[in-house]
Parts: sequence; structure tokens; C-alpha cells
Amino acid sequence: MNTLSNDQRSPSAAALDAADPLAPIRNAFSIPNGVIYLDGNSLGAVQKGIAERIDRVVKEQWGEGLIRSWNDADWYEMPMRVGDRIAPLIGAGPGEVVVGDSTSISLFRVVAAGLGLQPDRNVIVTEGGNFPTDLYILEGLQGLRHDLEIRQSSAGQDPAELLDQRTALLVLTQVDYKSGLVKDMKRLTEAAHAAGALAVWDLSHSTGIIPVELNASGADFAIGCGYKYLNGGPGAPSYTWVAPRHVNRVAQPLAGWLGHNDPFAFTPEYVPAPGIRRFITGTQQVLSLAALDEAMKIWEEISIAQVREKSILQTSRFIEGVEARCEGLGLALASPRDPAARGGQVSFTHERGYAVMQALIARGVVGDFRAPNLLRFGFSPLYLSFAEIDRAVDVLAEILTTRSWDDPRYTERRRVT
Ligand SMILES: Cc1ncc(COP(=O)(O)O)c(C=O)c1O
Repeated sequence: MNTLSNDQRSPSAAALDAADPLAPIRNAFSIPNGVIYLDGNSLGAVQKGIAERIDRVVKEQWGEGLIRSWNDADWYEMPMRVGDRIAPLIGAGPGEVVVGDSTSISLFRVVAAGLGLQPDRNVIVTEGGNFPTDLYILEGLQGLRHDLEIRQSSAGQDPAELLDQRTALLVLTQVDYKSGLVKDMKRLTEAAHAAGALAVWDLSHSTGIIPVELNASGADFAIGCGYKYLNGGPGAPSYTWVAPRHVNRVAQPLAGWLGHNDPFAFTPEYVPAPGIRRFITGTQQVLSLAALDEAMKIWEEISIAQVREKSILQTSRFIEGVEARCEGLGLALASPRDPAARGGQVSFTHERGYAVMQALIARGVVGDFRAPNLLRFGFSPLYLSFAEIDRAVDVLAEILTTRSWDDPRYTERRRVT
């Protein structure tokens, strides 16, 4: 085993931290002492201002203002206001993004809306390794529309190969939840268009960690998660974008009163609101939107280019450190080695991955595990230092060298892995 210790690495973590323009941003976050948090790709950490904001919304706006706050605190516009905060991160314009409901629900809405634009086609192309909810939502739609065919690319296959004249939609997740592999949105969107299909993108593992260019890529629809790199909190609402060229001609299947052109006219006929607002279904999650809104303010101070630059340095340093220190200890890299093809996470396989991750968590290095054998480490440049990365490598090397993972305490499967 290569025993080069972290303090012999060049540049040193201390030098990298001292030169890091994002280092002060960590102070905006509350990270428990003794925890190295490597799961921001699953649930982002909390910012200090959020508890105060929620407290204000509960005590002042809800407590004192009561129902008057729909107007006085402008709860009504929150889905659009928070959407405008997310838009620059995904290459969308103001007024093009709306926020609400879970990612799964938002995906259902845009896929059904996309199918509505393609009445003469009945195939959806996706990838077999897509995040399960994406596959389940497509299957659910198939249950409503029995002529629908779902074609799944196999591991390593280019989904563009499955496109043909019957394809209505190409539905893909841009950054793979297991490997962190980044797909080329522009190339795949253009391939879809060349076949007469439309492209739907799940940006859950993209937004806030890699630059995304929806308009410039010619994409048609996109949705994504608010609780990963956007740090909106557990179950934070998702966002939805529809290309401006389509938005006023699409119908979404979960049409509800708050997506109506004039909800307070209470007319029995549904008339969709102009623009992306029609993708609202029912009453928005005001408390969750307030948390996400507060979390998004950090982007007034930083840019996605800075985040991406640090992210590449951090994921690369972790890979190099782990491979130097853990050779022959059962780990295999499951993420792209080329940083340009890698999102914000690094995954390794290990035969006893679950136990290894539990042992890491017990030592304060918090990542997660995906069956059957994947250790996932997410790197959020907003609150991670280079020193923590080196420390995480040390702990992992020690756990593997001493086999301290081989302990009955670490084998009992919990509900959430
Ligand atoms: C790619 C992707 N899509 C969707 C989701 C889940 O969405 P939600 O639980 O908000 O419906 C996840 C969750 O991790 C995900 O990774």
C-alpha cells in the first residue's frame, strides 16, 4: 500500500483552503462539530438563517398575519419568486421556472405535458439505470395510456441509439445518481430533436453543482430537486422549467386551481395561466418554500463557475487520496476519472459497502450507500474544506486497513441507507 500521508501532499490542504474564495461561505452553514458531511448530493446542509426565517414566517406571517399573509407577505408569488432564484443556475430566464411539490410529481406533469405535444408518437426513451422514481413515474403514465412504450437503454449504451420516428420523448437524468456521470445535454437534446422527439431533463444532481444551460442546449422540459445542492431542507419543493417556445401551448395533467389564469374567479372551466405558472397544481408549501428561498440567497454572493472549479479540485483530490491510500483494500472507483464527465460526487464499490459506510458514519464521515455495493461521497463546495477531504481519506484508509467495518454493529440494515 502507498502510505504517502496527506500532509506530504502537494499542494497541501492548508494552502488550498487559504486560497479558496468560497471558504468564508462555510460560516453561513451549521455543520455539527466532528462531522465531515459528504452527503450534500442527497440532503444539503442547513444554513444558519433558515431557522430564523421559518420562525418569522410561523410567528409573524402565519401567527399574526394569518390568512392576510397570502397578500401582505406575498405568499402567493412564492413559487415564481423562488423559481427566479433558481433560473440563473439552470440557464433559464426570469419567469420561466416555478417551484412546488416533489420532483416525482413535477416529472409526471412535464412528461405528460410533453406527450401531449406529440400526439402521433407513443415511445418514451429513457435509461434503465435512471433514478427509480423516474422509471416508476413513466410506468405510471403507461398505466394511464396503454399504447405507451418505454424503451430503456442498457448500461453503457447511448440512449440516443433508441430514438426513432415513434419516439415522443427522451427522458434522462443529467447527472447519474450512482456514478455521478454527466451526460451531454446539448448533444442528446439535439439527437432527440433530429428524431422529432422532445427532451425532458431531470436536474436533481446537476443544479447548484455544475453549470446547466437549458435554453442554450435547446432543451424542452426540466425538473429537479430542491433539497440536494440547493440546500432547501428535507422534502424541499422541486422546480419545473418548460421551454418558452412550448409553455403556452402545453396542457399539464394535474391542472389545479392555482395554475388557473384567475383562481379567485372560481370558474368551473379551467383556463391555464400564461407561462410556467400553469404548472402549479394546488396550494404551495409555504414553509418549505420559505426555507428554500432563504437557502438560495447564498447565490447572490457566489457563482456556479466558482463552485464547479472547487468541486473538480475536491472530487479529484478525494479520488487521488483514496487510490493512493487504499490500494488493495477492496475499493474500485465507480465514477468517471475525467473531471469534465463527473458531477459533484465520487462513488466507490466495495463488497461490504454498507458496513464500510456505517463505520465511516460512526467516525463522523457521513456519506451514503446505494445497493448493492456503492459507497457515495457527495462534495458540496459551499461548506467543505480541503482539510476535511484529506481527513475523510485518512478515516476511510484506517477503517479499511484495520477492517473495523467488520463488526455486527455495522451490518444491520436501516430503512434509509
Ligand atoms: C435523479 C432524481 N430524481 C428524483 C429524485 C426524487 O425526487 P422526490 O423524492 O423529490 O420526488 C431523486 C432523489 O434522490 C433523484 O436522485
